[in-house]
Amino acid sequence: MTLYIFVKIVHLLTMTFFIGVVSFRTFIMPILKSKYDKHTYLNIDKLIGLKARSIIKINNIFLILSGLYLFSLYLDTANFLLYIKVGIGLVLALAFYIVPIIMKKFNHLKWFSQFFHHLFFSLMMIVVVLSQLMFA
Ligand code: HEM
Repeated sequence: MTLYIFVKIVHLLTMTFFIGVVSFRTFIMPILKSKYDKHTYLNIDKLIGLKARSIIKINNIFLILSGLYLFSLYLDTANFLLYIKVGIGLVLALAFYIVPIIMKKFNHLKWFSQFFHHLFFSLMMIVVVLSQLMFA
């Protein structure tokens, strides 16, 4: 297996974990809101969030490093879609580390958390679609 294939597999595995956690948080978790009182829900959310964050904290280091390595192979090609894909991918992977700060800042807006997660997930989907269009 070449280094290129190995790094690409790392990139795909880490993005799978990242998307998996965000999709769970966006589409599955909110269902618990209707089942439990607010206090219990917040406790569950906190517990799951802590575990998810501990995994993605490490995961995203490998996602970013593998992405940067792959990107380094295309520095001499002018590919607009690749730049957008890498740009959004980097913003999302790095934004993950400051999500708690963002959430705290907008805590007073009831709709913000759901909106933010949907936006985050949509951008992830755009990155995946761009990744397939950029070399087509
Ligand atoms: C949310 C974060 C990210 C997601 C969901 C994501 C997803 C993907 C996917 C699905 C591919 C296509 C692989 C293939 O078809 O073989 C890809 C390729 C690529 N990604 Fe990412 N990525 C993310 C972050 C990044 C970051 C942060 C960088 C750079 C710093 C990056 C750089 C690249 C490059 C250069 C390729 C092209 C690899 C090649 O085919 O040679 N990605 N990415």
